[in-house]
Amino acid sequence: MSDITKPTIFVTRRWPADAEAELSKYFTPTFNTEDVPLTTRQIADGFAGHDALAPTVSDSITAEIIKAGAAGKGKLVANYGVGVNHIDIEACKAVSIPVSNTPGVLTDATADITMTLMLMLARRAGEGERELRAGDWTGWRPTHLMGRQLSGKTLGIIGMGRIGKAVARRCALGFGMKVVFFNRSKVDDCDDIGAVQLGSVIDVCAAADFVSLHCAASPDTFEIMNAAAFDAMQSDAFVINTARGDVIDESALIAALDKGSIGGAGLDVFQGEPDINPGLLAASNTVLLPHLGSATLETRTAMGLKVVDNLRAFFASQPLVDSVV
Ligand code: DGY
Repeated sequence: MSDITKPTIFVTRRWPADAEAELSKYFTPTFNTEDVPLTTRQIADGFAGHDALAPTVSDSITAEIIKAGAAGKGKLVANYGVGVNHIDIEACKAVSIPVSNTPGVLTDATADITMTLMLMLARRAGEGERELRAGDWTGWRPTHLMGRQLSGKTLGIIGMGRIGKAVARRCALGFGMKVVFFNRSKVDDCDDIGAVQLGSVIDVCAAADFVSLHCAASPDTFEIMNAAAFDAMQSDAFVINTARGDVIDESALIAALDKGSIGGAGLDVFQGEPDINPGLLAASNTVLLPHLGSATLETRTAMGLKVVDNLRAFFASQPLVDSVV
């Protein structure tokens, strides 16, 4: 295909070099060369002027953007990322604009960042690093920053999809942890690690030393970790969130941290990110990461290649590889 006949793609943020190169082989992309957040107007104009929009999870793809795209040249939203809670899916359906995403390739990276948070929390690594960098470390002593072991503890998973299962396997096989989980539908392929499906979020919270969230953001899972769930947790148990900020009621979490009714929180995602609730920053028993779940070169490249696969399928009039709607 000559450059003139290649479909045009509006890409909202920079991708790893190999993924951008692959996209450029088959399409005529417009990259956000400064890699700064774009306004709604800029994305709407971009979509209207291109055949497809390739946004990512930090863009808010509103009905206004979708309508502008549909009124212009826009035909497809090919999301760079698996979560689509930032896209107005109903608006896409209303104008018959299909949406694709990038599932599968983020599983290991996200499971690994979950383990990072679990270990950092349990071993008080954040507190230790802050102490050392502040020049406050006075030397080794038997009672200094004692943490807890993962081995033999109980992991509670909320949302036993791909990532939940990958975390469960790491914990069961690598750390000898017991696994309990809550999932709306029956899950029957985790018997080999002895994982036990429980009837509710509260049951999991009551049983677990580590509660790890792996459900997609949706109206059903909005603040699924609420005051009642935190109250059900043991006072030395930890909560870890690598899913989406909106699955935790952050005010209830901060209240639980303040009154010591849970042991701590490890968070990679936040309500209203990149703004962080000052109550989370103030708590010493939190480990806070800037949404790094998929941030490996391998995964971020694979995500870009998945977007390219979906774009190629669509413009070859084939079914989307990863169809959302
Ligand atoms: C996604 O793809 O939804 C992830 O949150 C990005 O890390």
